[in-house]
Amino acid sequence: MKIIRDTHEMQAWSSDRRREGLRVGVVPTMGYLHEGHLSLVRLAKAESDVVILTLFVNPTQFGPNEDLERYPRDFERDCALCEAEGVDVLFAPSGGVYAEDHTVYVVEDVLSARLCGASRPGHFRGVLTVVAKLFNLTLPDVAVFGEKDAQQLRLIRRMTRDLNFPVKILSGPIVREADGLAMSSRNRNLDAASRAVAPRLNEALRAAEKAFAGGERGVQALRTGILKALGDLAPGELDYLEILDDQSLSEVGETIRSPVLVALAVRFPGVRLIDNTTLNPEESPHANRPK
Ligand code: PAJ
Repeated sequence: MKIIRDTHEMQAWSSDRRREGLRVGVVPTMGYLHEGHLSLVRLAKAESDVVILTLFVNPTQFGPNEDLERYPRDFERDCALCEAEGVDVLFAPSGGVYAEDHTVYVVEDVLSARLCGASRPGHFRGVLTVVAKLFNLTLPDVAVFGEKDAQQLRLIRRMTRDLNFPVKILSGPIVREADGLAMSSRNRNLDAASRAVAPRLNEALRAAEKAFAGGERGVQALRTGILKALGDLAPGELDYLEILDDQSLSEVGETIRSPVLVALAVRFPGVRLIDNTTLNPEESPHANRPK
């Protein structure tokens, strides 16, 4: 496996592979890799000839009071995991990717207005800017992102379309711990009490899926069921619970008639966790039942 530290070398490597007619796949990450990231590497490998994993803890997507300093890092371990997974290039830019006096950002202000965008002002500006830069640095044919970050995925698809990046965006399902907690690099920063409560995010979403599969289409009833399943989240507290149109992330009426995203975020001491599911009336056994 090749480790590339220099942005120009990264671009040159990718353009050489493209000239050779190889399909380049990229998996952007902030490192401290887990099975969720590795599942995306496998997807990328299935869809391309060479795979780049980018590892960069992007400062512009962290707010001033967020966990940039405490974000977990372990370069040696990440290297070994990439090597074992058959990654061709680990791109870990040593000097970062920003010019000291950079002034240009990618901003989206409709899909990013709600959910994490509302709780974390400027977060998606940082994400979209770095992903655009990583596309320009790695020149991928295919880029793979996780459904765990549902709003991020939708924003990256929108940016790719609206800015005409010639990149195919693929997504991989949420990979979970044995107790259902969605894998996240941040999970290691949970204290014991928070870690014990954390699986409740998934349990509450499963409860909503079950109610939906049983024919429940009322937004209020689903919300109430989720809140009940979440219960008292102490030492955490609910940041948001939203049921929105799956594509536009806009409000839906009281009755679910088209696919929705159910997304929630919980703040634990020093760690904020997110999780989500989608509910699709067209795929449900009750789809044809008269209303
Ligand atoms: P990071 O949190 O490291 O996640 C990298 C990729 O892994 C993202 O596409 C994310 O959705 C996916 N991922 C994380 N946990 C997952 C899980 N449990 N199951 C499936 N996929 C999972 O997301 C970022 O980094 C950054 O915002 C980035 C896109 C790299 C830009 O800096």
